Amino acid sequence: MHPTRVLTGIKPSGTPHLGNYVGAIRPAVVASREPGIESYFFLADYHALISVVEPARLQDATLQIAASWLAAGLEPEPGKVWFYRQSDLPETTELTWLLSCVAGKGLLNRAHAYKAANDRNRESGADEDAGVSAGLYMYPVLMAADILLFNAHRVPVGRDQIQHIEMARDFGQRFNHLYGEHFTLPDAQIEEHVATLPGLDGRKMSKSYDNVIPLFAPREQLRKLVFSMVTDSRAPGEPKDTAGSHVFELYQAFATPAETEAMRKDFADGIAWSAAKEALFERLDLELVSVRERYQALVAEPARIEALLQEHASRLREERVAPLLRELRSAVGLRPLTAGGAMPGTARPVRAAAQPVFKQYREDDGRFGFKLVEGDRTLLVAEGFASPKEAGQFIASLRGGRYDADDARLQRGEGVEAEDIRTALATMAEADARKAKARAGAAGGQDA
Ligand code: TRP
Repeated sequence: MHPTRVLTGIKPSGTPHLGNYVGAIRPAVVASREPGIESYFFLADYHALISVVEPARLQDATLQIAASWLAAGLEPEPGKVWFYRQSDLPETTELTWLLSCVAGKGLLNRAHAYKAANDRNRESGADEDAGVSAGLYMYPVLMAADILLFNAHRVPVGRDQIQHIEMARDFGQRFNHLYGEHFTLPDAQIEEHVATLPGLDGRKMSKSYDNVIPLFAPREQLRKLVFSMVTDSRAPGEPKDTAGSHVFELYQAFATPAETEAMRKDFADGIAWSAAKEALFERLDLELVSVRERYQALVAEPARIEALLQEHASRLREERVAPLLRELRSAVGLRPLTAGGAMPGTARPVRAAAQPVFKQYREDDGRFGFKLVEGDRTLLVAEGFASPKEAGQFIASLRGGRYDADDARLQRGEGVEAEDIRTALATMAEADARKAKARAGAAGGQDA
């Protein structure tokens, strides 16, 4: 079984509040522990550069946001839960360029953030592109590169990001159309059910409303903030509505179902607002005290996070990113002059980008063998099987991802690296997965 790749980009922007924690961080951490999922969490610092122009602030924000996710329980583990910094994969920018060359400018003109900047400028009578950097304009292409770099299947995002995922699909599709099937087209995963948390004033908790409870507020500040929450004027002893009470909603976001039911009863019985707030405060503090402590320990030792990020980035570069970029460069024609197809007049038509295939055959001595070929290049030869079935089983194990470069039965073609073979097998596995998905879709099956 191939895991489903779920990718989450995190823009470094200071320390998170309870709304971010409940709405984004906590569910993502929980989801990353599910079986059959391979998660990619990364700090989108290239993206942050379009708005943060103070180097120290960008560095600080990156540390804080990395520490926040780790404190909230993210458990990085190469191969299962990747945790890396976008700028540690400079190939992201190379892929951005390859995608820029297939991205429609007209499509980028319609990106929400860019259009909003245009509208603001027009309203104030300025040139419509005043103060708009090419970075802001290219933001969706950079984001598509993040996603397509790992052929992510699913990207959990808020509604404001859906357009970006659609653009990533569009660029990936155009690239595939021109150069062969290289990219999986990602699906946006919209978190409908996760609660938007109310802030101190009852409106959605958001920095722009200035009504937030910071995730790492020290105990005393947390208490003060909870007690500053706006409530109605019902006196102690008067029954209170849970519906519409943000004290209750906040409690519910942190309490167990049993605790929530008990609180519902207390509301009906006329609990005093001060008592309800006290209970809310203690419940919050119970969960947050350890998050807070882990956070303080983490930011005090940036070298530990740095080492973790470095380890993940270097493994990803080696195992995933470098092979993919080699494949893509070659696919678009950024390749050695000696590689096949470079002789004038011999260039293959664009659509003929070769897909790797296995070919089985019978040898002169009556035994059976197979080759893995890509266009007119032989990647792998294996001979001497007693039956076609035996050869077929071996092929199946290779397709399943079990390639051992040291296996004596397998001869690599001339100039072929083990990495080329892994790339070819991965390409085939992708194609298999796509077909399986299409079949499941045709059968009316649910998308994973
Ligand atoms: N644009 C996203 C945001 O503002 C952050 C982001 C960057 C991202 N690259 C991504 C999200 C890739 C998902 C996938 O929140």
